[in-house]
Amino acid sequence: MKKLTSETLRQMYLDFFASKGHKIIASASLIPENDPSVLFTTAGMHPLVPYLLGEKHPAGNRLTDVQKCVRTGDIEEVGDASHLTFFEMLGNWSLGDYFKEDAISWSYEFLTGKDYLDIPVSDLAVTVFAGDEDAPRDEFSASVWEKRGIPKEKIFYLPKKNNWWIAGTTGPCGPDTEMFIDRGYKPCSENCDPSCDCGKYLEIWNNVFMEFFKDDKGNYSKLKQHNVDTGMGLERVLCISNGYKTVYETDPFQGAKAKIEELTGKKYDESEEITKAFRIILDHVRTSTFLIGDRRGVVPSNVDQGYVLRRLIRRAVRFGRTLELPEGSLAKIAKCYVEKYADVYTELKENEQKIYDELNKEEEKFSKTLSDGLKEFNKVINFIKGDIFPGKTAFRLYDTFGFPIEITEELAKEKGFTVDKEGYKAAEQAHIEKSKAGSEQKFKGGLAEQNETTARLHTATHLLNAALKKVLGDDGIHQKGSNITVERLRFDFNFPRKLLPEELASIEAWVNEAITANVPVTLEELTVEEAKAQGAEGVFDSKYGEKVKVYTMGNFSKEICGGPHAKTTGELHHFKIKKEEASSAGVRRIKAIID
Ligand code: ALA
Repeated sequence: MKKLTSETLRQMYLDFFASKGHKIIASASLIPENDPSVLFTTAGMHPLVPYLLGEKHPAGNRLTDVQKCVRTGDIEEVGDASHLTFFEMLGNWSLGDYFKEDAISWSYEFLTGKDYLDIPVSDLAVTVFAGDEDAPRDEFSASVWEKRGIPKEKIFYLPKKNNWWIAGTTGPCGPDTEMFIDRGYKPCSENCDPSCDCGKYLEIWNNVFMEFFKDDKGNYSKLKQHNVDTGMGLERVLCISNGYKTVYETDPFQGAKAKIEELTGKKYDESEEITKAFRIILDHVRTSTFLIGDRRGVVPSNVDQGYVLRRLIRRAVRFGRTLELPEGSLAKIAKCYVEKYADVYTELKENEQKIYDELNKEEEKFSKTLSDGLKEFNKVINFIKGDIFPGKTAFRLYDTFGFPIEITEELAKEKGFTVDKEGYKAAEQAHIEKSKAGSEQKFKGGLAEQNETTARLHTATHLLNAALKKVLGDDGIHQKGSNITVERLRFDFNFPRKLLPEELASIEAWVNEAITANVPVTLEELTVEEAKAQGAEGVFDSKYGEKVKVYTMGNFSKEICGGPHAKTTGELHHFKIKKEEASSAGVRRIKAIID
């Protein structure tokens, strides 16, 4: 087997498939676009779903990529030898082009070829789909493996539970063939096969033959075209090819590991407890770095992606206590990752300061309350009779000390308690209802107008965004956040200092000029490239051919946006800035109204 670094493996994989006629495409964002059903990109197929369903991909019908992925379902397992919340997935794609024969042959060539992974054929085992009422037994894939040189006894037929791949519960899917390293151990029982977790078999690659669609009633139908979706975990392959026992021995982690040793004076393998804390910090800081540094960057919050990020950072802070990691360390560890990945994921370099700022802010916030919260936790746990930790107390730990419920659950579990989740939910619900009552009152009477008014304020937001660049003479100014209520707009943007009164006056005047000009607000659907070529403002992912909605207001503004908007700028009547203030480091906030 060949010893490889992450850099050589990525390049070797992409070059191999390029030599087989595949176009190399960039990794998409970790935050799926237009897909509210998932928080993160969990596999290479997510961003390609429209093309698996038959839409034409402008780069062609053979693609290859290295996709950033985040899976947090097993977050509590992190700390063992193999679980990671962030990983890179090497993939090759046929969109209605080649199918089983080529896919399997190329996998075999890449796995065993002298110039590639160079794995001895005798170390390989494969599985294929055993067949059921939805799809036939995959004798064909088995025959291709056999033709390539995998002996019959190393080809296993397994049911849907093991050899069928779907992302979530509905969508494109199909039988797969999976490749394993057979580590040569004695089978643990008569029934030992690659689905067994005794350690004899280690999965290395998965080829999915996506030719079915599963609907929400659980029925399968044939897709318009047959596709191939393959996925090979980069860290896993590095582990296997270098003979490492854990993913934390691979090169992406080494800089950060040395940094933690330097910051704490502790050695990674000092004791089981220390190793576990190292691994959790190594994993969680890496994932946080990629989430904050993403082009659709996440910041810690109490909902959705922001909540997962908050949980990762807080968990890292908590395990930092085990190592006596000094405050302010997470950003220093993150720097090792930014440097390690800078050439492959340039967005990390672009967002470097933001990564450090957000980590520092969140670490500081949680460090302040962590000790008090732990004290409180230890106090109450002494008074509990039985083994149920009260939900109300768990909610208080969240509300007062910022302990995500999962941290309380983990702490409770360590002491042999289970948190009363129902009680937690009830306490949370009571809290939400209390705060909702307040906000509903605030909007009383204004709701009927909301759509029209907010659409006009949205149009004003675009004009403000354009005005900032014009007046401050800085094309690098972009939206960092926006919030619209019926009463006002709020707009956050990057700028290093307070705006001067005369600058604010000029911005107001520029927007009002656009309003007086009363130009139509027009909508076009363009590809990302066309939008970019026309100088549209907005978030660009490096994806080809994707259509986006672009709103144009004469020569005043052109911006990618979902809408809705006013029909003409004249509908805005008059624009007035009410406030300009700091929002966070390097980010300013403007509140404005139209009247
Ligand atoms: N989509 C397949 C997987 O993630 C390749 O395993």
